[in-house]
Amino acid sequence: MNAITPSSAERLVRVPLGERAYDILIGPGLIARAGAEIATRLKGRRAAVITDENVAPRYLDALTASLEAAGIQSSSLVLPAGEKTKSFEHLIEVCDAVLTARVERNDAVIALGGGVIGDLTGFAAGIVRRGVRFVQVPTSLLSQVDSSVGGKTGINTRHGKNLVGVFHQPDLVLADSDVLNTLSEREFRAGYAEVAKYGLIDKPDFFAWLESNWKDVFSGGPARIEAIAASCQAKSDVVVADERENGPRALLNLGHTFGHALEAATAYDSRRLVHGEGVSIGMVLAHEFSARLNLASPDDAKRVETHLKTVGLPTRMGDIPGELPPAEVLMDAIAQDKKVKSGKLTFILTHGIGQSFVADDVPSSEVLSFLKEKHP
Ligand code: GLY
Repeated sequence: MNAITPSSAERLVRVPLGERAYDILIGPGLIARAGAEIATRLKGRRAAVITDENVAPRYLDALTASLEAAGIQSSSLVLPAGEKTKSFEHLIEVCDAVLTARVERNDAVIALGGGVIGDLTGFAAGIVRRGVRFVQVPTSLLSQVDSSVGGKTGINTRHGKNLVGVFHQPDLVLADSDVLNTLSEREFRAGYAEVAKYGLIDKPDFFAWLESNWKDVFSGGPARIEAIAASCQAKSDVVVADERENGPRALLNLGHTFGHALEAATAYDSRRLVHGEGVSIGMVLAHEFSARLNLASPDDAKRVETHLKTVGLPTRMGDIPGELPPAEVLMDAIAQDKKVKSGKLTFILTHGIGQSFVADDVPSSEVLSFLKEKHP
């Protein structure tokens, strides 16, 4: 058999975290090359692949064949798709599958799927045998540009999302750009909100580049791989600066405070709102709120809204189908999410495009009056 060679379009982003450093490969055909890429980096020759019912029919056989061709023996566990899978119950199932597969420390646990599978599998990899090797093969745009990189893993509990977990960095991330061709437009757009977020955090040139090149990103041209690589590089920079989220890593939450409140207000009903759509509306609100506090020009908020609207993302609370609860209820959701300290909230605000900062003294009364104005 001919060796499968990397495409010239492929990009490599290195996450330089000392002994936890790892590579992110981005490009076409990476699932077919996964076995070879893993075999050159990890000593073990066993793997447990964790995936879900939506992803397995499309990519599990190709991944298994590629592992086998590289001399890696694998077994697989196919879980139900959806956020509910990030649970204690499924964590037990994954740990059990990893132990049954006799995966040892130098072998690999492989997450094949989106953020739910990545977060759950990473958590299991972090605790089985006090930590085994972990490879992410993200299959959504959102997981390729965000959740597969950074090492935060975990599950949801009845107390809230992502409240139980560990930091466990992957040993390798293989972001196969071909898999994005089968995503729905809506899912791709939702992931794009996180791509745009990196520009808005601290890369104004990247945001301007997206304004000019977004069509090529959506149509799968060369700009798509560039956009994913730039996003992974941006995430890597933030993670390297603050791996355990003691400070600047909070910038990654731009748009997420309002976004999470809207997700909670729509009871996480994906027919009404998915995470990236909440982030899109949240980023516009964060820019408008910053303008209201005289920190930024209202023109910047308009520019953000124009771009997100142009790509087809929702940008206003009124874009969400169905009724939203009153501003006071949205405010309660924000307060729960953010922990209010003496009436003050921590918020990601901005001085303009690509000039966001962490503000830890935002009066909750200001947030409430802003929300009332936006959602009378
Ligand atoms: N796993 C996602 C993150 O660390 O941000």
